[in-house]
Amino acid sequence: MSSRVVLLSLFFILYWLPFADVGAAQQSSEKALREQYDLQEGKRLYGEYCRFCHGEQGNGHAFNVTPPPADLTSPAVQRKSDIELTQTIHEGERGTAMGSWKWALSKEEKQHVLLYIRWLAQSRQPVSAPSP
Ligand code: HEC
Repeated sequence: MSSRVVLLSLFFILYWLPFADVGAAQQSSEKALREQYDLQEGKRLYGEYCRFCHGEQGNGHAFNVTPPPADLTSPAVQRKSDIELTQTIHEGERGTAMGSWKWALSKEEKQHVLLYIRWLAQSRQPVSAPSP
């Protein structure tokens, strides 16, 4: 390879590098925007369908039934996989007030609601946090 070719390729790489960077940054900000949108959508759906029983903060007991609506932000619920929780939202739980949402919510909507439930759990202050 002649040194001219090397120099020319080097010039091209240096010329295009900044553009490659902008593309990547744009892609990641689009992803963040989409996540934000999905979360907002989950919040709206949760407020419409789930808040009545599971409460504004997701910690359950908003509606007086036996068994009481689960605390969705509790470790016991959060330990469960997305698949397990989606299944419960889809099918409901027999013999409890938790009904099936398979007709009301599309697959995407269930994902969005779940995203919001995960977000509620993350933003919850730990109850037994040691005081400073
Ligand atoms: C009419 C009241 C009511 C409404 C409305 C309701 N739930 Fe429930 N939900 C319950 C009750 C009661 C339980 C607890 C069932 C049990 O103890 O087995 C429950 C349990 C759950 C669980 C299972 C938690 C676990 O322990 O695995 C999930 C997940 C859940 N609800 C999500 C939702 C979502 C999402 C919505 C809205 C789309 C919703 N619920 C709407 C009453 C309700």
